[in-house]
Amino acid sequence: MALPANLKTVVKHTAAEATQAAHEHVAKTLREAVEQRGQAYLALAGGTTPHALYQLLARTASTDEVPWPEVNVFFGDERDVPQDHVESNYNMAQRALLDHVPVKPEHVHPMPASASDIQAAAAEYESTVRRTVPDEANIPRFDLVLLGMGGDGHTASLFPDTEVLQENEKLVRAYFVPVLGRNRMTFTYPLINASRNVVFLVTGEDKAEATAAVLSQDEATRASKPAGRVVPAGELVFIVDIAAVRLTDFRP
Ligand code: 6PG
Repeated sequence: MALPANLKTVVKHTAAEATQAAHEHVAKTLREAVEQRGQAYLALAGGTTPHALYQLLARTASTDEVPWPEVNVFFGDERDVPQDHVESNYNMAQRALLDHVPVKPEHVHPMPASASDIQAAAAEYESTVRRTVPDEANIPRFDLVLLGMGGDGHTASLFPDTEVLQENEKLVRAYFVPVLGRNRMTFTYPLINASRNVVFLVTGEDKAEATAAVLSQDEATRASKPAGRVVPAGELVFIVDIAAVRLTDFRP
């Protein structure tokens, strides 16, 4: 057994170095997308890990590192809170990044996960993705989907032992997450796996068990975690620190 041929790992000694590597990779991917196709389509991750990455990317505002006016920003998942709520992934990204770079407001698409009719809101968000992101084989193809991973191996809001993991038609789903006791809205595997590039930024020893599973040589072990079932046709990069891979043989 072996890791998928398109899976690349970038192992750094510290979370700060991993974040810097992610910054360089994201900036390069967005530049190349715009050079090749005129626009870039990006889906941001939530949680706490990407905050420092977004702060680094915010510093590109005064450089030509990222062609922000040609970048279209979506969110891979969102909590069921208003967009100005401290737990909102959009709010975090807006404060750390989007308020500081010349991205066009009409190119930023927050996920409406606190809508009263969350199912209709998920369908509407899927329509927005389909209307905006160029498709191949009738599935919108992002240039870059940025993901984190929880200690249980969830990614975006694809949580273990939930039926949304089986979704192979809809591109965006909203559902009640039992382990959280809350609703979440999330990209599904068909949309994530259509991306040209997927980048996981995973740091910290609390992620070591899940990271060891998703970077296992054994396919069944990888698939035992939701993050391990992200198998894009394009490039898959895990950018990690040494704490996250302490249970593996991966080293800087
Ligand atoms: C979210 C994220 C989620 C996150 C993981 C890791 O909405 O929480 O999208 O998938 O990436 O939970 O979160 P941390 O980075 O906070 O460890």
